[in-house]
Amino acid sequence: MDAIYQGNWITYLGNNEGKVWEFKKSIEVDKKIKGAKLYSSAIGTYAAYINGQKTDVYHLAPGYTWYKKRVQYQVTDVSELLNIGKNEISIFVAYGFLCQINKHENPMTDHLPGLEPMNTAIIVAIEIEYEDGSIDVIYTDDSWVAYETMIRSSDMYNGEVVDYTFSETIKRDVRIIDSDKSILIPQEGEIVKTQEVLSVENVITTPCGETVLDFGQNMVGHFIVTFSGDSKEELTLECGEVLDKYGNFYNGNYRAAKARLNLICDGKKHTYESDFVFYGFRYVRVTKSSDSVSLDDIKGVVVHSDMARIGHFNCSNEELNMLYHNIIWGQKGNFVDLPTDCPQRDERLGWTGDAQVFSNCASMNYNTNKFFKKWLGDMRACQRESGVILKVVPSSWATPSAAWSDACVIIPYNVYMQYGDKSVIYENYDMMKKWVEYIKNNYDEYTQTDSYHYGDWLALEKEDSYIGLTPRKFIANAFAAYSTYLFIECSKAIGKDYSTYTEFYNFVKGKIREEFADEETYLKYNPGTESSLDTQTYYVLRLYFKLYDSENERIELAKKLSEKIIKNNYKLQTGFVGTPYLLFALSQNGYVDLAYTLLLQREYPSWIYPITKGATTMWEHWDGIKENGEFWSDKMNSYNHYAYGSVGEWMYREMAGINAQASGYDEILFTPKTDDRIKNVFASIETGKGLVSSEWKIEDGKTKYVFVVPENVKATAIINDKEYKLLSGVTELCI
Ligand code: BGC
Repeated sequence: MDAIYQGNWITYLGNNEGKVWEFKKSIEVDKKIKGAKLYSSAIGTYAAYINGQKTDVYHLAPGYTWYKKRVQYQVTDVSELLNIGKNEISIFVAYGFLCQINKHENPMTDHLPGLEPMNTAIIVAIEIEYEDGSIDVIYTDDSWVAYETMIRSSDMYNGEVVDYTFSETIKRDVRIIDSDKSILIPQEGEIVKTQEVLSVENVITTPCGETVLDFGQNMVGHFIVTFSGDSKEELTLECGEVLDKYGNFYNGNYRAAKARLNLICDGKKHTYESDFVFYGFRYVRVTKSSDSVSLDDIKGVVVHSDMARIGHFNCSNEELNMLYHNIIWGQKGNFVDLPTDCPQRDERLGWTGDAQVFSNCASMNYNTNKFFKKWLGDMRACQRESGVILKVVPSSWATPSAAWSDACVIIPYNVYMQYGDKSVIYENYDMMKKWVEYIKNNYDEYTQTDSYHYGDWLALEKEDSYIGLTPRKFIANAFAAYSTYLFIECSKAIGKDYSTYTEFYNFVKGKIREEFADEETYLKYNPGTESSLDTQTYYVLRLYFKLYDSENERIELAKKLSEKIIKNNYKLQTGFVGTPYLLFALSQNGYVDLAYTLLLQREYPSWIYPITKGATTMWEHWDGIKENGEFWSDKMNSYNHYAYGSVGEWMYREMAGINAQASGYDEILFTPKTDDRIKNVFASIETGKGLVSSEWKIEDGKTKYVFVVPENVKATAIINDKEYKLLSGVTELCI
């Protein structure tokens, strides 16, 4: 058992009040050290220092988990940091992820039993092995002391106030929290660390006279600031993602999150880098309390979970390349320890629907195996006895929603297919089963209750509606069938009996036919209600989830979908639920040309429209900035929301045509789809089997294809309905 279990959870006496606290202990080392390890964790977000040196490269440790049941701890080799003689151990702790004070969630009041709400705690052990073979363990107990620090407030939403004039040296006693240590788990996810450092591209004086720095990229992370000023003078940096239509600073869309760094000077020059918060920003408004304050340097430090980049895409169309760039940056900014909806406003939560929608694309861009497995651990921990999977993980917010809760099946399946690692199925099998059982046992209530479900979130059929017109009951049924289908696939993968689930799958499919489709038109309208089945998303789900019984029905559904799009001036109307599958439903059912028309559409609503408005990340709304330059309401408008970035999956799987035909790319199916409006496409994925790539070029009326297949992998290409068996290595075809 790791040494951390010898430690005690400790907290200071008194109230936190949002400050960063320092826990301290001096230790004597009197013999030569062979090796030393630091085991550390916190309720809150901590940074560990030995003799003034930071012990590790991670940020935001111990990460965000459902603290009530699971708290990760980190292990660092600190052999080089300890000296013979006196050594100072300092652990700084801030609210960090604890402050998810959203209406859906409040980990601050629902964490370690025995710890006051709104307070933080740490647990630490240092294991020292001496050259003479003896071992010492120094751990947190009531001999540690605590101090307030110059970071007078620090939280993920509001940012920080750092007062360099602060010099309190009052020692506070600490209290041992008599609490169960079984909630401690070793680090499961990827650590969050600095990935790159951006410089300011432009210093703007806005029409209203303010100084605004432009980093040129909507990014997520923190600042390194070098500044000086007379004692008590202040420098304030505030974050924004876009400028308003007049070119002025704007961050109304951050809602209650202040997202600002307030530095109070002491007459000297300092460089400050935060360990405890992150912001989402492209623009920074700089305010100085007087001319004596100087901002000598500022950098934007991009942090995210340390996943390996495995996927690449480029093509002859620069706007599509920019779209791909925005998808990648959407992932960078929202894969900061857990998959979040957005990184800037007072939300930043593990919304299950958003993560599900983007999970396949994400897993082709980066290796997400460890990242998702850790978050799925929290999903399991938060699952209700009834089987209900929450809309936000971690949280204690107990109602399910179709397409959100189904993340518990869709994500393990997608991760398994990308990396071929069955442990993601073994670990999550019971959770998936309980979820499918929940739907089965509560079929009438769950699939018939509109109020549970978010529907086709942000679809466009109805002005000022958040949920579009596709009936929520239909979506609930479609996802019940899809989750059951994927659960059966997962059962097959690990040799479990699934017969009763095949029955349930057929039952739901039958219900969909009975209630939502008639023989003749494949539609049934619900006169007198606002919902209509005649939406793009309706056809998309029936096609992509294969909710039809005959070839003729499939052809008719695809025809109806194409007609709807053409009638809508070649534009989409789908929301979070329909969008990820929209282009697949077209290109896999005879409408490749129309799929490309939607992808290349530049007018609102489309994927390229935000790019024409200067987007450098994916937007939450198709019209985050409207054609007249106005913003979608402040109420809910993120410029860094990855959900619609799910289209990247289509770019890999249909444009370039790289598909894992068997899990982990044991078998590959190439299905490249060309279009005259694009001259060439290239994509590659570094799979567990080796590098896979696909490229095509249109030249002199011919298309040249180049495929790269790893050793010992079976591969087939299907081009214009003709099959080509491919060998390992490079194959070129000219057709
Ligand atoms: C989030 C979404 C999320 C949704 C659920 C929003 O506030 O930002 O992305 O899925 O709520 O309806």
